[in-house]
Amino acid sequence: MSQPFRSADIRQAFIDYFISKQHTAVPSSSLIPHNDPTLLFTNAGMNQFKETFLGMETRDYTRAVTSQKCVRAGGKHNDLDNVGYTARHHTFFEMLGNFSFGDYFKQAGIAYIWEFLTSKDWLAIDKDRLYVTIYETDDEAFDIWHTEIGIPAERIIRIGDNKGAPYASDNFWTMGDTGPCGPCTEVFYDHGPEIEGGLPGTPEEDGDRFIEIWNCVFMQFNRQKDGTMLPLPAPSVDTGMGLERISAIMQGVHSNYEIDLFVHLMDAAADILGIANEQQASLNVIADHIRAVAFLIADGVLPSNEGRGYVLRRIIRRAVRHGNKLGAESDFFYKMVAPLVAEMGDAYPELKDKQSQIENAIQKEEAQFAKTLAQGLRLLASELEDLQDGDTLSGAAAFKLYDTYGFPLDLTADITRERGILINEDEFDEHMQAQRDRARDAGKFDVDYSSVIQVDTPTEFIGYEQLTEDNVTLLAVYQNGEATEALNEGMEGVVVLDRTPFYAEGGGQVGELGEIRTATGVFEVQDTKKSGQAIIHHGIVTMGEISAKQSAEAQVLSDIRSASAKNHSATHLLHAALRQVLGHDVTQKGSLVSSDVLRFDFSYDKPVTDTEIMQIERLVNEQIQANVQACIEHMPIDDAMNKGAVALFGEKYGDDVRVLTMGTEQVVDGQRQPFSIELCGGLHVERTGDIGIFKITSEAGIAAGIRRIEAVTGMNAVKYLQQGDQQLSELAAQLKVKRPNIAARVQTMADKQRELEKQLERLQQKMASAQAANLLDDVQNIADVPVLISTLSGIDGKSIRTLMDDIKSKLPDSVIVLIGDKDGQLALAASVAKSVTGRIKAGDIIRHLAGELGGKGGGKPDYAQGGAPKPDNSAAIIGSLPAWLESQLG
Ligand code: SER
Repeated sequence: MSQPFRSADIRQAFIDYFISKQHTAVPSSSLIPHNDPTLLFTNAGMNQFKETFLGMETRDYTRAVTSQKCVRAGGKHNDLDNVGYTARHHTFFEMLGNFSFGDYFKQAGIAYIWEFLTSKDWLAIDKDRLYVTIYETDDEAFDIWHTEIGIPAERIIRIGDNKGAPYASDNFWTMGDTGPCGPCTEVFYDHGPEIEGGLPGTPEEDGDRFIEIWNCVFMQFNRQKDGTMLPLPAPSVDTGMGLERISAIMQGVHSNYEIDLFVHLMDAAADILGIANEQQASLNVIADHIRAVAFLIADGVLPSNEGRGYVLRRIIRRAVRHGNKLGAESDFFYKMVAPLVAEMGDAYPELKDKQSQIENAIQKEEAQFAKTLAQGLRLLASELEDLQDGDTLSGAAAFKLYDTYGFPLDLTADITRERGILINEDEFDEHMQAQRDRARDAGKFDVDYSSVIQVDTPTEFIGYEQLTEDNVTLLAVYQNGEATEALNEGMEGVVVLDRTPFYAEGGGQVGELGEIRTATGVFEVQDTKKSGQAIIHHGIVTMGEISAKQSAEAQVLSDIRSASAKNHSATHLLHAALRQVLGHDVTQKGSLVSSDVLRFDFSYDKPVTDTEIMQIERLVNEQIQANVQACIEHMPIDDAMNKGAVALFGEKYGDDVRVLTMGTEQVVDGQRQPFSIELCGGLHVERTGDIGIFKITSEAGIAAGIRRIEAVTGMNAVKYLQQGDQQLSELAAQLKVKRPNIAARVQTMADKQRELEKQLERLQQKMASAQAANLLDDVQNIADVPVLISTLSGIDGKSIRTLMDDIKSKLPDSVIVLIGDKDGQLALAASVAKSVTGRIKAGDIIRHLAGELGGKGGGKPDYAQGGAPKPDNSAAIIGSLPAWLESQLG
């Protein structure tokens, strides 16, 4: 390699080296793990090969090399809190990896590492700076390192189960609580004695001197939920080397943030903020976070309040807060996208393609955060209103500010300190911990491979052509995830067939219902799912018994199938119509197709108007009425794309894809193409007319920038329209008008109600003044001060204020307390004449009274007000007020 070892050169050298060792270069997979509910984000190079390691999927190659986009924030392997303050933690990083699927194992795995790191043709790292660790009992790895590679025994460190449980070890790698895993060997680099830290296995190992650069996992087991280790079909190799760490070594710097890529990003950040780059920790944070944020958005994540979107939101807000710490006064973070594209856009073209989308999403989130910041300040001000010097703000309030309004604790503390108010930090920490636990749980999903790994024969799906097949075989039967011989009447379980007409849940379409009948019993199918290459039927034995190896007849419920097919085809037409009406930026974010309803989520940043909804409905129904044949073809993916087929971003497609075209021909961008053309493996109608009718039932936002449309078709749509029609008839009958006149009648009624409310208010005020005249009779003398305390029923806070002004003028040098009692609420007001405020203050009276009544209130020395929900003992509390006033005035 030639100097200066730019990160981009190292990435390329790694790939070239392994290509020279017969590895296939495979592109990075999306940061959103495909079809793997056990994982929040792609966090290692091996993720995209998980099923290959498990033997559930085969590839055309047995050796692969990748540079994989990874995010470790949220879920297992969460580094977010450390990022910016250590030399090596990142939310986003690139993992270089080589993989063997049942091909080479420990010997070649280790030899490749050593050659690439130390050979003068490759990285030529000084061998004396390298140490290795192995799993304590892995003598085979020891022998290879020692005897074949020639590493002195004292530089090979054995690490046992140092994390307190069997296989819980730095040298036993597991992807998650379940899935492929195995012992590993790691290579460490010595950054030199001037840096603090000790060798792995010593008490000082967490220091920064000896840094792990390459992890090579010998994949041998599939870990089950209960901790059992089942052997994998073939021993394999999975390695990972962080590009940022190896770049630091090759560029002779200690911190990852000093490598070329980060220096450029931090310079850009400093420029944008108008400050000098003095390697402030906050600049590290911004440079790190823009990578995670931009790549996540490019892969389809948007900020939201749950799951992946929530992690993204926290990363953006953390970056914005650090920008504010450095003096940013308005949106700045989105401006980091351009410098990032300049650095990484060549290696990852999705960044270039989606640059403006990424910028918009970030800027929107920044604007939203700015809004919550102001709201948070208002909330804090109201929390502080009732607190005095020396009081403590509850941890719950501080946490709410942090969590809901994105207020860091130290910002809240700055504000409260000025008022002499402390924060209950212990309580804040408890809330924080509870949230972390929740976040961790959100990243942990419950999937057990034990029942599926045994099914190595794929199920042939024959349901595109037929609903019934009378000659299928029960390959296996499961109860509670365990293979069993038979299921008796009343037992729930899972059945796997050699061939099946049942469609397995996928592509948004839910599983199917029906029956599997054998000579001895009937199994009612309640749901069908995919597991590896097999289709599994969940259900219950409703008659007799069924057993493995029996032959059977399988029958899908045709009504349900046909209702689902209508909804699925209508979903495609809806997608196409949305793009015509709202623009081609609309992309699918999710869908659900059942026999009752269809649901379609898509990116769009404002509500769809009623007129647009009607236009969309009209377009779809026009296509239905055109009654065109739906056409299904298989073709190479590139041909499908050339034809303008819509594919889902981040979805995994084979080379040969199933393409569904529907509807009349249209001219799009000067090209003739069918109304809808999409890649799809689902079940559809034969002609668009089969859908019958399409009606949208709701449109709503479900997250920032994501809308959801729900709709119905066929008889469900007829039912929906009939219900609406019936409701209108009932309404017309109740209002005693013809249907076209309903709106006008409702408007007249609303106007009349407003007029009546005004009249009522005027009457109440008149009543209040009338009462005021009588009230003067109730004045008592307390410690030489005329005092009036009066409870007025049916009077609200507004009228109380008018009344108070009225009485005050008639009763100089007095204390007046009025309590309005209306609709279960008490409105409190106190007035203290200026001549008396030296002896008692209105604010104190209201605070006392509201406190006793369980409400809130306060104000100035001469006038204060408050309120409380009326407690049962309110009369007694109000009755004790003269005695209290006497104690204060006396
Ligand atoms: N899967 C291992 C890791 O992530 C090696 O690639 O460290």
